Amino acid sequence: MDKLLIDGGHSLKGTVKISGAKNAALPILTATLLASGRSTIHNVPNRLADIKTMRKLLADLGAVVEGDESINVDCSNINNWKVPYELVKTMRGSVLVLGPLVARMKRARVSLPGGCAIGARPINLHLEGLKRLGVDIRLSQGYVEAEAKKLAGATYRFGISTVTGTENLMMAASLAEGNTALENAAKEPEVVALADFLNQMGARIVGAGSEVISIEGVKELCPAECRIIPDRIETGTYMVAASITKSEMTIADCNVAHLEQVATMLKEAGVKIGKAKDGIKVVGPKSLRNVDVGTAPYPGFPTDMQAQFMALMSLAQGTSIITENIFESRFMHVAELTRMGADIKIEGNTAIVKGVNRLSAAPVMATDLRASACLVLAALAAEGTTEISRVYHLDRGYERIENKLSQLGAHIRRVPA
Ligand code: EPZ
Repeated sequence: MDKLLIDGGHSLKGTVKISGAKNAALPILTATLLASGRSTIHNVPNRLADIKTMRKLLADLGAVVEGDESINVDCSNINNWKVPYELVKTMRGSVLVLGPLVARMKRARVSLPGGCAIGARPINLHLEGLKRLGVDIRLSQGYVEAEAKKLAGATYRFGISTVTGTENLMMAASLAEGNTALENAAKEPEVVALADFLNQMGARIVGAGSEVISIEGVKELCPAECRIIPDRIETGTYMVAASITKSEMTIADCNVAHLEQVATMLKEAGVKIGKAKDGIKVVGPKSLRNVDVGTAPYPGFPTDMQAQFMALMSLAQGTSIITENIFESRFMHVAELTRMGADIKIEGNTAIVKGVNRLSAAPVMATDLRASACLVLAALAAEGTTEISRVYHLDRGYERIENKLSQLGAHIRRVPA
């Protein structure tokens, strides 16, 4: 298990290019299962561990997966509908094959994902919605056994806005007989990107990105081609990197419209954000103002940026209140930040972050994907050399983070543990 050594206190400069969005690529890759033939997906963040796992998963189902940044997926001969626990436990995103498999193969046997560091993360709403579409769902020995003679369109209202739940049902409903309405659907840009790709395949979906998504089922879909949208959470992470190191840098190949709330909160903290030739320019202020934040479904402040923003607020003037409203235990990074000198108290799902003048290096441990990003950001600003262990969490969602940060002037290196 590799470690990162980061020598803090150095400012960053130059330009960083944002990769394709992991959380857009995963559902679009599973959507290729819906059609026989070869689809082509461009701008895939191919070095991410989760993408590597998804490629293996598709191949295990009988797909032929080739290519690098542009991936060709040929799903002409899908001959398997089982996804084992070993695969699902390494990547929860595997549950995104449920919808496509029941739509294409009329059956699926997928391991329940189990919880993770940030919460129980059940998939009950995915299963409830599939039942509404006529899928027979049974749970046995930790697996979901799904079977359907045919899928019939229906109206289903999500009790909670769920990103992958919306994506699973949108994919299944695309091949159902009749019309489906998904109410209280997730509005994330990744959901819209999936709907765009499905429509390229011949699906008839309107309303993605709004409260209600309407899907008119079709008999079959054809393979298609698309380009993955920029990763808005990677973008937000580098915006915080510039902010926490008081640097001026350019973030290219990004779409800042996908993280308006993050930009708004950073500006409130005193960060300057402007247009640049091929992206945005971010200027970190000499001193940061405290800002209160509560996470919410899109277009609210993204839960995936909560840990990174907390690292920033730990160095702000004054006290910030950060409330996590999406996951029940997404404060695993607090203990590690505290070991670096941050002053943070937790009360239920709220963290009271009292800004300090400086953070200091310490050996810390990553616990989940975004918590590890938070520790990298804190280390960039801390005095001394911070050692971050279990960086495999980071590798699931950030392509070559040490290369990208080194090119910006950070003193960071990866060492085998
Ligand atoms: C997606 O996870 C993302 N993952 C997560 O990103 C992200 O944090 C999350 O959406 C919220 O934005 C992918 O897209 C692959 P949810 P997902 O279903 O779909 C509850 C990262 O860092 N819920 O929107 O699993 C759930 O427990 C990852 O890249 C149910 O109760 O999240 C949570 O409290 C981490 N029952 C809330 O809804 C269900 O059936 C939102 O979860 C489904 C969800």
